[in-house]
Amino acid sequence: MNVGCNGAVDNPGQRIGRNRTQQEAHAMNLMLLGAQGSGKGTQGALLASRFGLVLCASGDMLREAMAQDTLIGQQVRPYVDQGNLVPDELMIGMVLERLRGLKDVRGIILDGFPRTLAQAQSLDARLAEMGTSIAQVIYLEVPRELLLSRLLDRYICRAHGHIYNLKTNPPKTPGICDIDGSELYQRVDDQGEQIQQRLNIFFSETLQLTDYYGKQGKLITVDGTQSIEVVNQAILADLKVTDR
Ligand code: AP5
Ligand code: MG
Repeated sequence: MNVGCNGAVDNPGQRIGRNRTQQEAHAMNLMLLGAQGSGKGTQGALLASRFGLVLCASGDMLREAMAQDTLIGQQVRPYVDQGNLVPDELMIGMVLERLRGLKDVRGIILDGFPRTLAQAQSLDARLAEMGTSIAQVIYLEVPRELLLSRLLDRYICRAHGHIYNLKTNPPKTPGICDIDGSELYQRVDDQGEQIQQRLNIFFSETLQLTDYYGKQGKLITVDGTQSIEVVNQAILADLKVTDR
């Protein structure tokens, strides 16, 4: 099962940003911002692997909780299945708790969190308490028309959440993950009505975070309509982080 925060090294006593100079620590914390289907999960996996960052994907955390049928999983299911935002209180508690538990990591890459101003402010405050902050925010800009078709053709692997697309990034064997051989499935919220609802929320609410991070001088806007490789190169060209 995919885990929302992948890659932490267990070394008790050390936390994000505490074992490096402030400047180095800040350089490693990234955030992906973008509408549903803009490629956050796709680019997040590439960047996490390249730079050795822990990928924290809020949607993956929620799907993990739902698959395990935990109390939180039961609470969030109606929101996620219908394409609505999970209430801030639940979401902030879940993600910040996960960040607090990370030990001795080079940095994090956030995918899907924050989505509201309240979430962004809580995140900033928590990272400041931990002696670190977000260094750069990558906004993947994609027009609404393209997002719908990308999501309708998306398939995800059951074991680890690897992402495919029937048109733009198909698996070698239909229905099977190239990487781990597990079954591919379509997300419950990747259907017409739910997709439109998720996109409405992004453009009416989450998009304002580009202003929030723009004012902090952290925003990088990338044209997300290009191929996966070209988008990745564009991000790398603008990032101020170094390889491991
Ligand atoms: P989440 O799982 O985060 O879903 P999402 O935001 O709807 O975003 P997606 O995963 O759909 O899109 P993506 O940008 O990751 O695109 P991907 O890389 O897969 O959240 C699910 C739900 O959880 C929410 O609706 C909400 O209910 C809840 N939730 C989560 N976080 C929350 C929060 N903070 N607050 C409240 N509620 C929260 O790519 C899409 C497709 O396009 C794939 O098929 C891929 O192969 C393809 N593709 C990607 N890039 C390209 C490219 N450059 N060219 C061609 N194809 C591409
Ligand atoms: Mg995603």
